Amino acid sequence: MNKVWWKEAVAYQIYPRSFMDSNGDGIGDLPGILSKLDYLKDLGIDVIWLSPIYESPNDDNGYDISDYFDIMSEFGTMEDFDLLLKEVHARGMKLIMDLVVNHTSDEHPWFIESRSSKDNPKRDYYIWKPANEDGGPPNNWESFFSGSTWEYDEETGEYYLHLFTKKQPDLNWNNPDVVKDIYEMITWWLDKGIDGFRVDAINHMGKAEGFPDDPHPEDQRYNTGYKMFSNLPQVHEQLQKLNREVLSKYDIMTVGETSGVGPKEALLYVGEDRNEFNMVFQFEHMGIDCGTQGKWGVEPWSLLELKSLMSKWQTELYEKGWNALFFNNHDQPRAVSRFGDDGKYWSESAKLLATYIHTLSGTPFVYQGEEIGMTNVAFDSIDSYRDVEILNYYKEKVVEQGQDHDEIMKRIHHKGRDNSRTPMQWSTNDQAGFTAGTPWIEVNPNYSSINVEKQVQDPDSVLNYYKQLIQLRKKHEVLVYGDYELILENDTEIYAYTRTLGQEKLLVVLNFFGGTPTFRLPSSLHVESHELLISNYGVEEDVNIQEFQLQPYEARVYRIK
Ligand code: GLC
Ligand code: CA
Repeated sequence: MNKVWWKEAVAYQIYPRSFMDSNGDGIGDLPGILSKLDYLKDLGIDVIWLSPIYESPNDDNGYDISDYFDIMSEFGTMEDFDLLLKEVHARGMKLIMDLVVNHTSDEHPWFIESRSSKDNPKRDYYIWKPANEDGGPPNNWESFFSGSTWEYDEETGEYYLHLFTKKQPDLNWNNPDVVKDIYEMITWWLDKGIDGFRVDAINHMGKAEGFPDDPHPEDQRYNTGYKMFSNLPQVHEQLQKLNREVLSKYDIMTVGETSGVGPKEALLYVGEDRNEFNMVFQFEHMGIDCGTQGKWGVEPWSLLELKSLMSKWQTELYEKGWNALFFNNHDQPRAVSRFGDDGKYWSESAKLLATYIHTLSGTPFVYQGEEIGMTNVAFDSIDSYRDVEILNYYKEKVVEQGQDHDEIMKRIHHKGRDNSRTPMQWSTNDQAGFTAGTPWIEVNPNYSSINVEKQVQDPDSVLNYYKQLIQLRKKHEVLVYGDYELILENDTEIYAYTRTLGQEKLLVVLNFFGGTPTFRLPSSLHVESHELLISNYGVEEDVNIQEFQLQPYEARVYRIK
């Protein structure tokens, strides 16, 4: 297998608004990030991914960009950015930016021109259509953030397309001028010396020709119309051209965000013979607790389903492409609350989930606060929420359709994106040490027990466990390049697998729940000697590897011969 730095790296995602505020205005910023670089280096991080820091009116917290060449004034200046990049590099780390080019802000000068008249030269930078025969929106496609994907614009009497909020109009990638301008912008950032991109919502850049109605509006796992604007062949044409003309000229790391793909479709993006991206974020495992209800569903999940779908990703991409591994990001609730136990076994289950992500084949991504086991938050009032997706959802369901307030709040508590956007919990100081002012979103009240300051001092903390795990990956090549093989396929509580590279073999045993099941070594594995590399419980040395009982949420990694 090809050996490259981005396969060996551990990445850390920063959501700048919530990471560290340096000037007391309640909003995280670039100098704040700078002040925490030593913390990240000490954790073992190789690559930092910054969620968008470009100029933006913040309808969707920076995912609505009004100037690609400037830094959001709340976050700092271009000088702050240049210094940050220099200091990241000085510590031997790399920095990747969020590239948001499916859409811009409606306050981007291109859109301001585009909407000004039908014959403006920038008109076709975006997607405009007249009303359908009954005077309504051009088709039945549904926005990710509730309502139609079409917004009527009085000025010129037409509708424009926005898959996300109405302040995020979709760019028209069929227009060669758009392509040229975007390439210039990407080149400008790469020439600055950044180390790559996480590419936002990129599987939606191509739309079905003719913009037809979705014929099956009822049976959508995502949104009505989803198939009409996701993972279409024209996306791959565009990405291969982008790679050929721009990306391939730099030694960078690229991660596409591609919802709705299984391993076969993912290989079209990350296959080593495809020349598109290095890896993609896929979301199949984020769907296991949704039932048939899409993102807001709150259903019990099954370990067998997780095993079977992740094993597919592990084996189908092996030696052909590469996985990006994650359980958390700024769009997902906190994994320890969602798939672990944020009560009695909080620490054990946070470490269990971490062991899983860091011992699979692929590049692990840690999301800020995950390394200290930050949990979901449940604000009582809808007014405490900030996320446009949550607010639109509440408005549509409760205010407009009259659905039950408690039921909708329950879903928001379980699934809302603000769960992962509360400020980073640095210490027991006021506002968790995040800001000297009033934070833009309330801190999670559990910061007095869950915070960095406390965990740095505790050798058994979640934080110190992450450090050990990251070091383990750096020490044992088998964790990066080894082959994955699932064992005990039908066990409903234990998830176990081996990783093999040449003579090296590791055995990973994970008890995903609060019971105490017994692990029995399958007869296919012959073990003469074993050495425990890491565990989230103290384990005696002379354990019988053939058969042992696991503690709640116990995780063990053995090197076996
Ligand atoms: C991606 C981002 C999300 C954002 C959306 C629109 O899914 O991760 O935060 O709202 O794209 O840019
Ligand atoms: Ca600030």
